[in-house]
Amino acid sequence: MPDTVTMDKIVSLARRRGFVFPSSEIYGGLGSAYDYGHYGVLLKENVKARWLEAMVRERDDIVALDSSIILHPRVWEVSGHVEGFHDPLVDCRFCKRRYRADHLDQLECGAKPSKHPGETESCDLTEPRQFNLMFQTRIGALEETGLDAYLRPETAQGIFINFKNVAQIARRKPPFGIAQIGKAFRNEITPGNFIFRTLEFEQMEMEFFVPPADAEEWLRYWIEERLNWYLRLGIRESHLRVRPHEADELSHYSSATSDIEYLFPIGWSELEGIAHRGDYDLGAHTEGSGTKLEWVDSEAGERYTPHVVEPAAGVNRSMLAFMVDAYDEEVVADRERTVLRLHPQIAPVKVAVLPLIPRNEDISGKARALYEELRRAVVAEYDDSGQIGRRYRRQDEIGTPYAFTIDEQTLEDDTITIRDRDSLAQERVPISGARAFLLDKLAEEWKTPKAD
Ligand code: GAP
Repeated sequence: MPDTVTMDKIVSLARRRGFVFPSSEIYGGLGSAYDYGHYGVLLKENVKARWLEAMVRERDDIVALDSSIILHPRVWEVSGHVEGFHDPLVDCRFCKRRYRADHLDQLECGAKPSKHPGETESCDLTEPRQFNLMFQTRIGALEETGLDAYLRPETAQGIFINFKNVAQIARRKPPFGIAQIGKAFRNEITPGNFIFRTLEFEQMEMEFFVPPADAEEWLRYWIEERLNWYLRLGIRESHLRVRPHEADELSHYSSATSDIEYLFPIGWSELEGIAHRGDYDLGAHTEGSGTKLEWVDSEAGERYTPHVVEPAAGVNRSMLAFMVDAYDEEVVADRERTVLRLHPQIAPVKVAVLPLIPRNEDISGKARALYEELRRAVVAEYDDSGQIGRRYRRQDEIGTPYAFTIDEQTLEDDTITIRDRDSLAQERVPISGARAFLLDKLAEEWKTPKAD
């Protein structure tokens, strides 16, 4: 079956089922800002948990960090972000809109939306001007004595300035990494295709410090490793690719970057960047702060500034890719169903417990008891409202991989029906084995049933 997903369908499902809401909606909304509802929070938490698992828990060469969002303003001067973290913008003197100069071919003209800015006779674009993406704020109560500061536009700098602390205390020797998940902020001008590009977002970044001679090899290693992470979590191979940056696309700190791109409904777009940052950051902060950020091994008489390979992913953008890739529509017994075929380890809810006849106290009593048992192990939901078909559809739309139904037969033989979200196969298992069945299933390898 062809892919039927569009961004509008994802936005509508996300809203209908309470994954994501437009922020400040009762005040008319705020472009490029979103709030996450219950299932959105659970989905995001699962994405972050899988990342931490792969980057920190399953390895012994990477440690975790949680640094401040507001850092000393010198950090951003020294890192080059005050000077170099810009987007080129143009204004249209006719429609009074502002556009990213490098995105004109993806944007709608303010006066004639079927055209791109600059394509109609009335368009009157200025020359591109550089616009810094950092949000400014002020520390301190008094205007005169306050200090201008920035909300961090990347989590990475918090890692570089802690290099010495972590290297000493964690007793790690290059190659080793520091991983961090946290919010970042960018004053993005291009309105952003739902949660693909927002003003505020979460990053999952890892700075891997290596001997300079090994950096190229580690760059290749991390590109492969990160690509495999998405594949393991069920994203279709046909919808992922690696694209090396052209020289004129590189960030001010990078000597080589490859993006892992996903085929979103808006076309191939960056999901994660893996950059060779060389000694740019540690070198700059050594010079800027006077603190030597280098690796010293006095026994071996070794001293050098490590080079850095950085896989930098976005939580919200990954969540969008997982939802897009999982979205499916099909007709079953003459009725359409929408289903999110999420990897069970990413799915917000792992199991729904459904009493077939909620008014029957014996049935609902058994269902409640099973639910209480399951929710201690996984995120489970109890649903006794409405027809069973509707309840199944609801769980399909939030991507719940299994539904356990308790019915009259349960009262006779203590078995329940287990319904598989993807195949719709139903099987009966003893209620006493339901928990073990679920945990075994969740631990299994999983491949999407969607065509590649
Ligand atoms: N430290 C390197 C760095 O920040 P980046 O490519 O600018 O690199 C890394 O950002 C990732 O953060 C991107 O691949 C994307 O997933 C996410 N990201 C960046 N800007 C974003 C935005 N405005 N909204 C949502 N996610 C964003």
